[in-house]
Amino acid sequence: MSAYDAIAELYDPWSASVTEDIGFYRDEARRASGTVVELGVGTGRIAVPLAADGARVIGVDSSRRMLEVCARRAALAGVELDLRVGDLRDPPVDERVPLVICPFRSYLHLHTDAERGQGLGAARELLVPGGRLVFDVFSPGADDIAETNGRWLEREPGVWERADWDEDLRTLTLSVRGDEGESTMTLAWISADEWRALLVEAGFEVEACYGWFDRRPFGGGEDSVWIARRSS
Ligand SMILES: C[S@@+](CC[C@H](N)C(=O)[O-])C[C@H]1O[C@@H](n2cnc3c(N)ncnc32)[C@H](O)[C@@H]1O
Repeated sequence: MSAYDAIAELYDPWSASVTEDIGFYRDEARRASGTVVELGVGTGRIAVPLAADGARVIGVDSSRRMLEVCARRAALAGVELDLRVGDLRDPPVDERVPLVICPFRSYLHLHTDAERGQGLGAARELLVPGGRLVFDVFSPGADDIAETNGRWLEREPGVWERADWDEDLRTLTLSVRGDEGESTMTLAWISADEWRALLVEAGFEVEACYGWFDRRPFGGGEDSVWIARRSS
């Protein structure tokens, strides 16, 4: 069971206003001009627009319910996705591709450096030499923690979210509830410097680290958007 199974029907209303990353990932898929593997594909928020733009997308996710919603969304949009149940640390994909993406902070579901290393190593294995891994993560600022800690906030109409931050453990226990379901999950963050070191250790060269999807350089803010190239 995945914590996302219980909120598969709530996920799209919950993330309705998250659109800023779609054009960025679409542009990266165009640049790659080949099959894209999305790790943690969820309900296809990114994968469906990429497929509608002409990309072949293989989507891997550990939540069967999220994949069911994704398949429905793809059918509604009239696009085909190759959806596979599996763990992003050991994705059930044999082929080698020019682009692997892991959007919307899915790597924060990996809690230790060992798990992050497995995740990055698995992404590297999927890539042809010179292929790219593109993902985004965050590391919260003190203001964000102070503003949101322990409070139920209405993120979207009828969708409530509560963040419980642990700054010592660097974990966020995130709860969400709405008419379509509720769940609680724990995310773990590390700094951008730590992500860089893990990428190099896993066999990547960092091509770019942006501070947002408009490709502004990373300047120490909460969000970081990474383009990493398989080094050999
Ligand atoms: C924040 S959602 C992102 C979904 C989608 N990429 C998007 O941008 O909307 C995280 C997704 O990662 C999946 N996930 C979490 N841990 C995973 C794991 N170890 N292996 C595969 N999928 C995982 C969840 O089921 C969920 O669908």
